[in-house]
Amino acid sequence: MNMQKKFQVALLLLFGVTFVYQGSSIAQQELVLSLTGKRTIDVAGIRIPDIGLLPTAIPVPATNLNYKQKIKLGKQLYFDGRLSQNGAISCAFCHTPGLGFADPKQVSIGVGGKQGGRQAPTIYNTVFNPVQFWDGRAGSLEEQAIGPIVNPVEMAETHENVVDKLNNIQGYVEQFQAVFGTAVSMQGIAEAIAAYERTIISTNSPFDQYVLGDKTAMSEKAQRGMDLFKGKARCILCHNGSNFTDNQFHNLGVPQVGPMKEDLGRYYVTRRPEDTGAFKTPTLRSIDETAPYMHDGAFKTLEEVVDFLDNGGGKNPNLSPMMKPLDLSKEEKNHLIAFLMALKGEEIPFEFPTLPE
Ligand code: HEC
Ligand code: HEC
Repeated sequence: MNMQKKFQVALLLLFGVTFVYQGSSIAQQELVLSLTGKRTIDVAGIRIPDIGLLPTAIPVPATNLNYKQKIKLGKQLYFDGRLSQNGAISCAFCHTPGLGFADPKQVSIGVGGKQGGRQAPTIYNTVFNPVQFWDGRAGSLEEQAIGPIVNPVEMAETHENVVDKLNNIQGYVEQFQAVFGTAVSMQGIAEAIAAYERTIISTNSPFDQYVLGDKTAMSEKAQRGMDLFKGKARCILCHNGSNFTDNQFHNLGVPQVGPMKEDLGRYYVTRRPEDTGAFKTPTLRSIDETAPYMHDGAFKTLEEVVDFLDNGGGKNPNLSPMMKPLDLSKEEKNHLIAFLMALKGEEIPFEFPTLPE
């Protein structure tokens, strides 16, 4: 087919879809919009993306080739403590399957028992994050994966040592040859781990089944919780779109606990005073699996989080203007939590990889 022909076919398809769309009922149009994540709603006078289903196509960078083979290799690297200085701390040590791919400790502990200043976020749905880390300092998952290996409070290794060590493990040498056509390299390690991370997706929750039309998938309490989430409780102002995040940074006045005296958050990246103490809005999918909560793990339970938000957040000179006391009753708080529980994704069948000798 030549270019012009292709263009004509594309136009025809577009008209076809638009025609079907216009001919359908309002309810069907709404369904198409919510299924494609294009529906917006009005909250507190602001037009924002509605919550809805995740895209079925997983975004993969065009530069990361040979994707399928990399996933298998990346999974081994993700679980391999030999990427760390003492041979014991793998990515899975702090982002643990079975514990929501997160860390139940308030702040993470790395090589030699060293404490970091922040709570380890989940790996679930990081594929949909335009930026990584609580302050958004890394762009792609490829870029992020290299960070923990050299971080002195995480895996505390050097790039040279990791590459040397893996180049002495026959199983890795063979796989890198097959996948990349080169010896073990830092770039290869990063691409493979990122490819594996993109398979860790929380989806098909009771909420998703409800959106797809199964009105019994969520309890009545959870349904009322959803109305509160989008209405009186105003959560959707920031936790919106298909991954329940606006991918922006806000200051909720979360009390600073743990080893860090003050965490300036997004300010470290932008150096803009208004970003002081602002952190990335996290996804809420499978949120019941990933306690404790917030950038510093300040809250142990969802009840504590909801009480905190009900009070309009904490005290902070830079508190987001979107934070307001909510005046929720005890019953309303319970409904809100029932809705958060309904965001638990389908279980991912999981097997530990065999690591090469
Ligand atoms: C010692 C614990 C520890 C280890 C080991 C560790 N991480 Fe993390 N990870 C963290 C902490 C803590 C953060 C948050 C840091 C921040 O925001 O500054 C984080 C953040 C991340 C994020 C960002 C997620 C988001 O939503 O922003 C990704 C992705 C990630 N880690 C992947 C990895 C990979 C891949 C490895 C192995 C190469 C790894 N981590 C090793 C503790 C750890
Ligand atoms: C102004 C934007 C905003 C609003 C409104 C908001 N959140 Fe958040 N939420 C965030 C940010 C930002 C964080 C991380 C804050 C931090 O760590 O300092 C967060 C953290 C959370 C966490 C902890 C997540 C984790 O992985 O640690 C939960 C649970 C949560 N919010 C639920 C809610 C609920 C329920 C509502 C409505 C009652 C709500 N949020 C309203 C922005 C918002």
